[in-house]
Amino acid sequence: MKPINETDIEKAKVLLKQGIPKEKIAKALGISEDACEIAAARLRNEKLGKTSYNNLYMTLTDLRFATNEEVAKYRAERLKCGHIVEIGCGIGLQSIAFAKTCKKVTAIDIDERKVGYAGKNAAEAGVKNIEFMHGDALKLAKNIKKADIVFCETERDAEEEERKIENIRPDIKKVLETCGKLTKDICIEVPPQVKEIPFDCEKEYLSVGHELNRLDLYFGKLQKADISAVALPAGDRLEKKGEEELSPSPPLKYLYETDGAVKKAGLEPYIPAKGLFICGEYLTSEKKLESPFFKAVFEIRRKCRGLKEIMSALKKEGCGKVILRIKISPDKYWEERKKYESGLEGNETCHLFSAKNEMLVCKKTP
Ligand SMILES: C[S@@+](CC[C@H](N)C(=O)[O-])C[C@H]1O[C@@H](n2cnc3c(N)ncnc32)[C@H](O)[C@@H]1O
Repeated sequence: MKPINETDIEKAKVLLKQGIPKEKIAKALGISEDACEIAAARLRNEKLGKTSYNNLYMTLTDLRFATNEEVAKYRAERLKCGHIVEIGCGIGLQSIAFAKTCKKVTAIDIDERKVGYAGKNAAEAGVKNIEFMHGDALKLAKNIKKADIVFCETERDAEEEERKIENIRPDIKKVLETCGKLTKDICIEVPPQVKEIPFDCEKEYLSVGHELNRLDLYFGKLQKADISAVALPAGDRLEKKGEEELSPSPPLKYLYETDGAVKKAGLEPYIPAKGLFICGEYLTSEKKLESPFFKAVFEIRRKCRGLKEIMSALKKEGCGKVILRIKISPDKYWEERKKYESGLEGNETCHLFSAKNEMLVCKKTP
């Protein structure tokens, strides 16, 4: 089999665009299926508009688990230091970001293919201060003499019924034990869905475009708070300070959907905005408030009871589309939505929320 080269990847991209299956392309061009995988992942990356590096080596699965640019850049700033050891570097996207803020990066992964791709990706990005190592980081870390920070991006099975700390690879307790001999300043990424985190550390939830994206645990001098949330790409940050609570209220004039990281971290009471109350899973206020921690803001136009009142309110609002924000099973969503949209002729989009005994007809504010 020919070694993977750029010309073959480009040819495979053209054929993939024509809908030809990877196995057939590999056979026709006499190239490996890995080369076709790379072509497919590049096409996906282009479709996603992620073009900071055009010629990345990765498979579609690698792309799925790779660190996104916003998170990689943020972490690289927060963990800026002389020498960082990165455990679980994968195809090297986080390593490349570290290379731009740290003097030296030692990047380790147990998967030889990924380490090979990571080396090619680092060359493509033009960074020269990363030493890639292949093997079990828990063994290799013992041979490293000095490091300022250890960062570990963990691996877990794609489909798991419940995210549990003990199912994460490498074992977090072992990472803390082994790497704790090198430095106490450790950051470990874990799935944000994990319920129990039995460690004394900062739990920092990250969102990208207001969607919950990551949970990073900070140990040693890296710990700045107990719980924090950062909304990326802007980087606005909230920290838990004391025991604040928001008072509950029925829906007022405005309804707010909170940033995913802030919500997961339970930091709504720390959003610096006066006159904010909690209303079920949303926030509400009488006056319109601005905050980088709001994912969406809705104006409550009408409060209704029963289908007849809702339909009349939707018509009065000039509504044609009705987005349901009520608890409903996904297979019933469109059937229910059609029920509200039938007979509507307007051009406006309304959002329908439920609050105790009422339905709220709302419009999203710009
Ligand atoms: C979520 S991925 C990292 C993704 C990476 N940041 C990227 O951009 O591609 C986690 C990685 O941890 C690696 N890993 C799991 N156990 C390991 C171990 N004991 N030593 C080194 N790497 C390990 C996996 O091979 C996997 O590539």
